[in-house]
Amino acid sequence: MLRGKHILLGVTGSIAAYKAAMLVRALVKGGAEVKIVMTPLAKEFITPLTLATLAKNPILVDFFNPENGEWNSHVSLGEWADAYVIAPATANTIAKMAHGIADTLLLTTYLSARCPVFIAPAMDLDMFAHVTTRQNLASLRAHGVHVVEPGEGELASGLSGKGRMAEPDDIAAYVSGFFGKKMSLKGRRMLVTAGPTVEAIDPVRYISNHSSGKMGYAIATELASRGADVMLVSGPVSLAVPAGVKRVDVVSAQEMYEASVEAFRDMDGAIMCAAVADYTPAEVAETKIKRKGDASLNLKPTKDIAAELGRNKEGRLLIGFALETDNEEANAVDKLKRKNLDYIVLNSLQDKGACFGGDNNKITIIGRDGSRAAYPLETKSEAAVRVADLVEKFFEK
Ligand code: CTP
Repeated sequence: MLRGKHILLGVTGSIAAYKAAMLVRALVKGGAEVKIVMTPLAKEFITPLTLATLAKNPILVDFFNPENGEWNSHVSLGEWADAYVIAPATANTIAKMAHGIADTLLLTTYLSARCPVFIAPAMDLDMFAHVTTRQNLASLRAHGVHVVEPGEGELASGLSGKGRMAEPDDIAAYVSGFFGKKMSLKGRRMLVTAGPTVEAIDPVRYISNHSSGKMGYAIATELASRGADVMLVSGPVSLAVPAGVKRVDVVSAQEMYEASVEAFRDMDGAIMCAAVADYTPAEVAETKIKRKGDASLNLKPTKDIAAELGRNKEGRLLIGFALETDNEEANAVDKLKRKNLDYIVLNSLQDKGACFGGDNNKITIIGRDGSRAAYPLETKSEAAVRVADLVEKFFEK
């Protein structure tokens, strides 16, 4: 699958940089042409001469060649590449990527690359487990970066745990697998709703919920990576638009209803992942409500978007989500029927680690056909693969 592919390899300053030599060999053996950018620190761990010899291409480190002033164009490197593989990727580089910092050629190339990007993190176990590293990885994943998970084992620090860069052959196999992945959803148009809705009470206050949008964004990312045309109707979240996805931003349940009903006309299916408010203030006060004694809020129900799409489904695929706190399966099955869904993805607030805003989820998928599949606690990206597999199965028929 790598034959003829242009692979740009980014090497950062980690002890695992020595394994970049094996990775270059594996990629070249697979038939790829390899160009390499290194950070200045990476040169301390492995010499450019070693990598240049294996890749049969000169190594780029600086923005320009100090000898003759020749400019190393990050834009043309990004255009040349069919894939940009950053291995090893240090916590420092991952943090900079997540925040758009561009102080090395390796990073400017990341910002201008339009091709799929893969990172193979390598660091000490505590750095990998640190909340900021996890947040940075989650934000890169949400933006469509593929993370080749590190393995567990002995680390350079002498400690043992998760943080050891994936083996070079496994990284090459991962990238090769990506190119081999058939674009199984090519030409399929999918609507995904995600995030919370925000219902104004007055110009200052609102009603909303804790949805982070991460699950819906992971699904949009996975569907797009399989070639689908994805329209993401999103409530207010702090996530970047996943690569290759069109996003429509909405605020209230009514706006989400209008955007979704309109978009669904041209779709082959929809995945309703948004946490839509069930009630909205009957009236929005024009000025800030002043504090005086007891107060109450008059609410009216919002429109049920999933149920509306269910009524106009006409053989198209409709998948809903149910977040429950009790009586989980019975409530989910009831929603499945009531909204005319094909599948409902159930998550329970009873499950530890599968919480709002987190990166993990524990799902059970119940089908209209009576099927039931329960999965272990896994990342939202992994859960998104399960959902995308259902979509694929539906269109195979
Ligand atoms: N949903 C929707 N529009 C709404 C409410 C819910 O599209 N106004 C969708 C959600 O995106 C989800 C499914 O319906 O896919 C179930 O949402 P949930 O809030 O669990 O269901 P409700 O019908 O609102 O039931 P309840 O809040 O009483 O549990």
